[in-house]
Amino acid sequence: MFFHVKELQYEARPERPDPIYAKKLQEILGGEFGEMTVMMSYLFQGWNCRGPEKYRDMLLDIGTEEIAHVEMLAVMISRLLEGAPLKAQEDAVADSPAVAAAMGGTDMRDAIVAGMNPQHAIVSGLGATPKDSVGFPWNGNYVAASGNLLADFRWNLMAESQGNLQVSRLYEMTTDRGVRDMLSFNLARDYMHQNQWEAAIEELRQDGLEQFLVPGTMPLDRVMMDQAHTFWNCSAGTESKIGRWAKGPTYDGQGEFSYIADPAPLTDDNGMAPPPNPLLHGTAKQPQPPISSGPNPRANGRDGRKKSPDDVVVSARGGRGQGDRAGA
Ligand SMILES: [Fe+2]
Ligand SMILES: [Fe+2]
Repeated sequence: MFFHVKELQYEARPERPDPIYAKKLQEILGGEFGEMTVMMSYLFQGWNCRGPEKYRDMLLDIGTEEIAHVEMLAVMISRLLEGAPLKAQEDAVADSPAVAAAMGGTDMRDAIVAGMNPQHAIVSGLGATPKDSVGFPWNGNYVAASGNLLADFRWNLMAESQGNLQVSRLYEMTTDRGVRDMLSFNLARDYMHQNQWEAAIEELRQDGLEQFLVPGTMPLDRVMMDQAHTFWNCSAGTESKIGRWAKGPTYDGQGEFSYIADPAPLTDDNGMAPPPNPLLHGTAKQPQPPISSGPNPRANGRDGRKKSPDDVVVSARGGRGQGDRAGA
């Protein structure tokens, strides 16, 4: 059960309308690394969690907090859109400097030219939409919920990092004190969340549930472990040899990094695909005769039934080809 509390988690009150900034702010609401993505990821990770209860409870806590962040952003976007250029307002601004001042000094014609999102007026009536800053709809493919907590917690740390990077960039794109005040709260919460995911990864290790490799349950005698610690220098230059990834013990505790400066294929397999299935009409190495399968209404009558449907392959030469089974 979910229960809605009327107050926002934190204030979302801009100093003045700014429809262009409202469009930009959509990125951290409905973009790939926006609040909707982390909200849905954490909730699904929680609902799908089959591990210890503390992980499930923690996931549902943070997933629910992210709903509150979606709400704050939606409210902020609506308030930034308050002065958007509807025709009557636009005329009023043009006629009266006093009205323009009352609307925060935003030049509405500039707003149109600079690219307010017209759907903010036409589609949502000056409200937020579940889309990113260029209008691409949020979609469920952004969500990660794998059932493996280490894989998911690492993804969560990545998402909080990308999200906070975008929040920081948006912070620099406004001087509005009200917007900056809310964003400073968002930045702080996602610093907490970066800390939280690192702690959760550590907790999995201390619980002995996961260590470093994902999945930790694959027996290593089934893995080609002599290939598990080699760095392949697959570009010109050997500057990459300098890094930690090229020397010293590996993080799985199973060996040492080594650097292959001049890598060569481990096989003489040239990777050629098998010949095409004639009924898929791809280009083969040699010219192929025309071929099809099943009834041919042009040859056999409109219902295609004068011959048995089992006479499946019809080629220009009248012979039966490789596709016999396809019509059976
Ligand atoms: Fe958030
Ligand atoms: Fe977060």
